[in-house]
Amino acid sequence: MSSDTFLIEGGHRLEGVVRVGGAKNSVLPILAATILTEDTCVIEDVPRLADERIMTSILRHFGATVTEGSDLHTGLRTLEVRLAQKVTNTSPPNLMKEMRSSIFILGPLLARFGETTVTQPGGCSLGERPIDWHLEGLKALGASIDVREELERPDVDGRTSDPDGKISYYHAVARKLHGATISLPFPSVGATENIMMAATLAGGESVILNAAREPEVVDLANFLNAMGAKVRFAGSERIIITGVERLHGATHRVIPDRIETGTLMVAAAITGGEVLLENAIPEHVEALSRILHSAGVRIWEENSPYESRIGAGMTGRPSAVDFETGPYPHLATDLQPALTALMCLANGRSLITDTVFPNRFAFADGLQSFGAVMEHFPKARRLLVEGQPSLKPSDVVVPDLRGGAALILAALASPGISCIRGVGHVDRGYEAVESKLNRLGAVIKRVKNCDIPWDHP
Ligand code: UD1
Repeated sequence: MSSDTFLIEGGHRLEGVVRVGGAKNSVLPILAATILTEDTCVIEDVPRLADERIMTSILRHFGATVTEGSDLHTGLRTLEVRLAQKVTNTSPPNLMKEMRSSIFILGPLLARFGETTVTQPGGCSLGERPIDWHLEGLKALGASIDVREELERPDVDGRTSDPDGKISYYHAVARKLHGATISLPFPSVGATENIMMAATLAGGESVILNAAREPEVVDLANFLNAMGAKVRFAGSERIIITGVERLHGATHRVIPDRIETGTLMVAAAITGGEVLLENAIPEHVEALSRILHSAGVRIWEENSPYESRIGAGMTGRPSAVDFETGPYPHLATDLQPALTALMCLANGRSLITDTVFPNRFAFADGLQSFGAVMEHFPKARRLLVEGQPSLKPSDVVVPDLRGGAALILAALASPGISCIRGVGHVDRGYEAVESKLNRLGAVIKRVKNCDIPWDHP
């Protein structure tokens, strides 16, 4: 992961039009789903992201050919993927530990080849992120999964991904998966997707109860159906999958990234600006729009026969709003850090609760160094923010992907120069974030080193 730094001259109003790219959280499971067929799949509007590169490297490791191109008519970036036959049984531990979404390969590899070994996935430090529901779901479909621990080989700097230097190997076998009813304890996005992918090639009917309803789950189901799968009711709490003998190649355009959409809406609000977002789906950011509206942000829609657009603009200080994250259609936990940054400048006090991840406030210290005033209640997964009339520039280190977005937003709103270190986390999920923001009037420079001794009065 790159350790680049952003130097941000804050205090500029963002204004203009920008296009939202394809959704990271759609493209990762969709790329994994290409494993399910020996034919070629073409995925359109694939954002250039560090996480997408990790997923394509994992696919190549198993023997896939991945060719980058662009659509003749739209110019959108495409990836053509084909895994004719796998050349190895075991996933690459160094790539798997780079991101949590690497676990998406487990269901498809097992369903198509009947056996695989994957190593433990890594990811953002949002607290414990187990994969037990993925494993339980696949076991219910008839897989036997053994876990063994081995000592991890340290990298060139002598570091290991686990503090104890251990790595877990999940060896999964199933001669033929069979349909089952799986009731998830919580509507986990990843578990729903992994089980759904595996069930497409299982014998008979599978039902996922308490399934995640996120738009990315629906997008994956649409791709699977384009490949010949029979997935019904994706987007509801009860998904039914009727297994088929084989899947074929398909072409699919991923949905717009609703987290990028929401982050850019907040960027307009926090800088007192006005932006129009092309390729944005209002329904996907409804919960966010409601909160922003209560805070005094103007939000409008512009629809054409070809695409929908969302506008967001703000004058004056936002009003404080209490909010809580939850599974879709509630507010996305991935948008909580950005909204929290906005509340730091609100008129009044906001109580923010994240019900999805146990540790989603790692960026709070960073916001405080911009002059934000808040109190963290870790056990209750709550943050109480006392809005301030203004923020001051700071020098901070990015703790995780969405926390990084919050710190960038705080810097955009702070007149003067801020230094945001370790933006590699942000590159995992936001495509060319600085060019998009600069096009709207931000002043952001990416540098390799930032040795300036930062001194803030
Ligand atoms: C996905 C998104 C991520 C988003 C999250 C919640 C992708 C690639 N990533 O992550 O951006 O923040 O949804 O909307 O789509 N859990 C378990 N056991 C499991 C699985 C999950 O305990 O086997 C817990 C997690 O620790 C977490 C909660 O369930 O507390 C929700 O996680 P989940 O919905 O699975 O998130 P991801 O799919 O990892």
